[in-house]
Amino acid sequence: AHDAANAAEVAPPAGVYAQTVAEVQHYTDRLFRFRMTRPASFRFRSGEFVMIGLPGPKPVWRAYSIASPSWDDQLEFFSIKVPDGPLTSQLQKIQPGDTVWMRKKATGTLVLDALLPGKRLWMFSTGTGIAPFASLVRDPETYEKFDRVILTHTCRQVAELRYGEELVAATKDDPLVGEFARNQLTHFTSVTREPYPRQGRITDLMRSGELFRMLDVPPLSPETDRGMICGSMEMLRDTKAILEEAGLTEGANNKPAEFVVERAFVG
Ligand code: A2P
Repeated sequence: AHDAANAAEVAPPAGVYAQTVAEVQHYTDRLFRFRMTRPASFRFRSGEFVMIGLPGPKPVWRAYSIASPSWDDQLEFFSIKVPDGPLTSQLQKIQPGDTVWMRKKATGTLVLDALLPGKRLWMFSTGTGIAPFASLVRDPETYEKFDRVILTHTCRQVAELRYGEELVAATKDDPLVGEFARNQLTHFTSVTREPYPRQGRITDLMRSGELFRMLDVPPLSPETDRGMICGSMEMLRDTKAILEEAGLTEGANNKPAEFVVERAFVG
C-alpha cells in the first residue's frame, strides 16, 4: 500500500485517470472487490470494461469489467488474485486512500445494444465473469428490454458465490431497480468442486436440460432467448457452442444478434 501511495505522486500519462481507492473487500484467497472514485467526465455503457493499472514508470495494464451501474458515483471492480500475476499480485494489496490508474476509454461487447429484442436475457458467468453483469442487472434498461433476466453464476467453491449473492440481494432492495429485479431477475448458482444443492458446470446443466427444468423455462430458442457470456476462454467456447446449436448467432456493437461474448480477464 505504501508503494502505491508514494508512486501516486507521479502524474499519470496522457489518457489516464488517477483515482482513489475507497473500499476493498476480500472474499477468498482468490477473489476480492474494490471501489474507487469516479472521474466526473467518465462515461460508460453497462457491461463495458476499462484498462486498470498501478502508478509507476512502466505500468502493467489489465482489462477489468466495470461492476458498478452507470448511475453510481463510484466505480467497482471484482478481481481474481494471482500470486505471481504481474498486476493482481500487487493490486490485491491496495487499501483505501491508495491510487489506481485507469485508461479513459471504456469499451466492450457485452452491451444491450449488441442484442436484438427478445423475451428472456440469459447472463452466463463463471468466477469473476459475473462482473459485467453486476453492472447490467442494476441498469433499468435491462428490464425495459427483457421480460425475464436469468443470471447464472458457477464457481469452484461455495465461498466464491458470495459476491453475486450480495449483489442480487442489494439489487432487489435498490430504490431505482429493486421492483424490476424482484419481478424479473432470477439468480441461478452452481458449484463444481464442493457439495452444494446445485452442482455442475453450466454447460453440463444445459446439455442435460436440468437447468431449464430447474428454472421451469423452455429450452433456448432464437425467437425468444438472448445470451451474454463471460468466463474463461474454455467456458466461452463451450457455452457459445451450445447457444449456436440452439440456433442463436453471435452479435456485435455494429451488428446486433442473439448473443454476445466477453472473456473474464485475469492476470
Ligand atoms: P470446474 O471446477 O469443473 O473446472 P475458473 O475459476 O477455473 O475460471 O472456473 C470457474 C468455474 O468455471 C468452475 O466452476 C469451473 O468448473 C467452470 N468451468 C471451467 N471450464 C469450463 C468450461 N469449459 N465450461 C463451463 N464451465 C467451466
